[in-house]
Amino acid sequence: MNVYDSDRMKDSLAPLGYQEGSDLQEADMIVINTCHIREKASEKVFSELGRLRKVKQRAEQEQNRRVKIVVAGCVAQAEGEEITRRAPWVDIVVGPQTYHRLPDLVAKLDPVQRNHLIDIEFPPELKFDFLPENLGQRGPAAFLSVQEGCDKFCSFCVVPYTRGAEFSRSVETILDEAKTLISSGTKEITLLGQNVNAWHGLGPSGNEWGLGRLIFALAEMPELQRIRYTTSHPLDMDEELISAHAQVDKLMPYLHLPIQSGSDRILQAMNRRHTAADYLNIIDRLRSVRTDIALSSDFIVGFPGETDKDFADTLKLIDKVGYASAYSFKYSMRPGTPAASKFLQVPEEVKSDRLSSLQQLLDAQQFAFNKTCESMKFDVLVEQKAPRKGQLNARTPYMQSVYFDGPESLIGKIARVKVSQARNNSLSAEIIQ
Ligand code: 5AD
Ligand code: SF4
Repeated sequence: MNVYDSDRMKDSLAPLGYQEGSDLQEADMIVINTCHIREKASEKVFSELGRLRKVKQRAEQEQNRRVKIVVAGCVAQAEGEEITRRAPWVDIVVGPQTYHRLPDLVAKLDPVQRNHLIDIEFPPELKFDFLPENLGQRGPAAFLSVQEGCDKFCSFCVVPYTRGAEFSRSVETILDEAKTLISSGTKEITLLGQNVNAWHGLGPSGNEWGLGRLIFALAEMPELQRIRYTTSHPLDMDEELISAHAQVDKLMPYLHLPIQSGSDRILQAMNRRHTAADYLNIIDRLRSVRTDIALSSDFIVGFPGETDKDFADTLKLIDKVGYASAYSFKYSMRPGTPAASKFLQVPEEVKSDRLSSLQQLLDAQQFAFNKTCESMKFDVLVEQKAPRKGQLNARTPYMQSVYFDGPESLIGKIARVKVSQARNNSLSAEIIQ
C-alpha cells in the first residue's frame, strides 16, 4: 500500500516539475512515506530524520539550496505535531488520506522563513478524486488500490486509527484506472486494500458487487494477463471470491490470508472474530476448487497472555496448512490499541524464542514448497533486470521470485521457464520459450 501511495504522491507532484531522483544529496524535496504498524518501523522514522537533517544542512550551507522534507504516511497521521516538535527541520507532515493536497502544501511553504505545515485530516473529499489521472510509468506488474482503511479493530492494530474507516472505491474508477494501467503496458494488476476482500461496490446495472465479481470483470480485459489481490481477512472470504479462484485463469493461484495465531483463546483476545477451525475450513474450500493454491499468512507471537500451549496451537495450525511463505512478527505494543493496556505482556526473550521457532518451521515449509517446484515449467511475466548481470527476474504464479538468464527485451513479456534449482527465498530457472 505504501509503494502505491508513494507512486501516487509522485504523480501528484509531477505537474509541479518534480521527478523521482536517485541521489539524496541532489534532491530538492525528500519525502519519507512511513509505517506505524510496529514500534520498530515507527522509531526508524526519527533516526532517518536525523540523517536527513544533515543532508538539509549541507545543502543550505554549501549550496545555499533549501531542501524540503516531507513526512507522509501513518506515522505522520499518528504523531502529527510530535514530528515537527522532535524534528523541527521537517517542512510538511501529511497523512495517508491527504497526500493529494501535497502540491498545495508545497506551494504554501514560505520560501524565506521556515514554517511547518501539517495536514492529517480525514477529509470529506476522496484523495482518489483529486489525484492526476496520468499514472506515469508503472511497469509490467502494478498495484491498484481498491479499498482502504479498516473497521475490524483487531485489538493489536493501529490501522483503523491511522488509515481510518473502511472505504471502497467505485467500480467505475477502478476499471478506469485498470484501463489506464493496461494502456501503458501493465500486464499484471495486484488489487490492494488493508481489507481488500471487504471491497464492495455497485455494478453498472446497480447490483452489489464484491471483490470476486470485480475480479471476474477485470479478467474480461483482454490485455490484462494476471490478477492478484492483497491483503484479505478470513471473515470476508465469500463464495464468489472462492469461485473466482476456481474459474478465473488470470487470477493467480496464491492467497495471502493472515490468521495471526492458531489459538482460539488468543484469536478471541485479538478480536479476530473467527476460530482456527473457521480458517481451516476456508483453506479446505479454496483447495477443493484450486488444488494447487499456494498459501501465505501473517503471524504474531507473544500477544499479551499467550501461553506455551497457545503458541503450540499456532505451530500445529502451521503444520496443518503447509504454507508457501509467511510473515511473522513479535507482538509490538501500540499506543491507543486495546491490547496495549493488557496486563499479561509476554517477556521479550519469550517472544524472541517463539519467533525463532516459528520462523524455523515456516522457513522449512517455504523451502519444501520451493523444492516441489524444481523441474516445473511456468509462464512468468518478466518484470525487471535482476541484480546479477544478464539475469532477469519474474514471479511465478505462486509468487516466488524466479531468476534466469535472458535478454532485457523480454521485460514486460511472458516467458516460459523451467525451474532448475530451488533456494530458500527464490528459484533459479532457464528459459525454454
Ligand atoms: N504487533 C505485531 N505485529 C502487528 N501487525 C499488526 N499490528 C501488529 C502489532 N501491534 C502485523 C499483523 C498484520 C501485519 C500487517 O502486521 O500480522 O497482519
Ligand atoms: Fe489491522 Fe488487518 Fe485487523 Fe484491520 S483486519 S485491524 S488492518 S490486522
